[in-house]
Amino acid sequence: MKLEKKITIADLSKHKAAGEKFAMLTCYDATMAGIQQAAGVEVILVGDSLAGPVLGLPDTLGVGLDLSVTLTAAVRRGAPLAWLVADMPFLTYTTPDHAVASAGRYVVEAGADCVKLECDERFVETVAAMAKVGIPVMPHLGLTPQRASQAGGYKVAGKTAAAAIALIETAERMVEAGASALLLEAVPPEPAEMLTQKVPVPVIGCGAGPGCDGFVVVTHDMLTLTGRKTPKFVKQYADLHAPMLEAFKAYVADCRGGAYPAPEHGYPIRPDELAALNEWARQK
Ligand code: KIV
Repeated sequence: MKLEKKITIADLSKHKAAGEKFAMLTCYDATMAGIQQAAGVEVILVGDSLAGPVLGLPDTLGVGLDLSVTLTAAVRRGAPLAWLVADMPFLTYTTPDHAVASAGRYVVEAGADCVKLECDERFVETVAAMAKVGIPVMPHLGLTPQRASQAGGYKVAGKTAAAAIALIETAERMVEAGASALLLEAVPPEPAEMLTQKVPVPVIGCGAGPGCDGFVVVTHDMLTLTGRKTPKFVKQYADLHAPMLEAFKAYVADCRGGAYPAPEHGYPIRPDELAALNEWARQK
């Protein structure tokens, strides 16, 4: 279960070839990253989904590059063996040169193995520029939350034959441009599976059915940490919101009632030192 060695893109490609599915989760801090690595999560994504759980923002548009690079480095330290994907924030890849400059920071400063960018067919040149300089790229196709406002909301992609064909053709062009892997969000299972079978690189699905090579969800959603409504494709693996709430309430009650801190939570002073201190206080 536990990761035994550093995961590489070659490992993920072998999984794809052997029909072995793999797991990806989001992560924004070193502690969680260590737990995920210990659980055998092969791929970790520092998603711009950090906007909600970490920053309390209503959408992903306000995530900054500096913060995202810092958190990616933290996750790298917590999970040195996972294949680490960093999510490029809104407006950090407006041209191919801009994309290379932004993405380079994740690789050089944070130790990311790959960068993900939300894109469509207009970004083929950008993906090619990144791949050309040696940056592993994962185009994120289908529903792209950074463009929700432009698209008129969070819409399922590839729902008509024409839309599904366009999506598959875009995926093929991305692979030709040098994409190392693909991420598909909110796509019906049939076109997602067809696309996965057509391309030679690993395809990770997020609400794209069981036919993809790997699967990703937002960790805070699957652990029910935030207490917010989660997307339809999320399965709840734990409800950590309720026990955390109870723990915080118990702490507040102990602080107010004097049950915390107890003597065992403190640092004792030697009796002779205490006597000297008391003597000093008496003379004051
Ligand atoms: O930002 C993110 O966490 C993502 C996943 C939901 C795929 O893009």
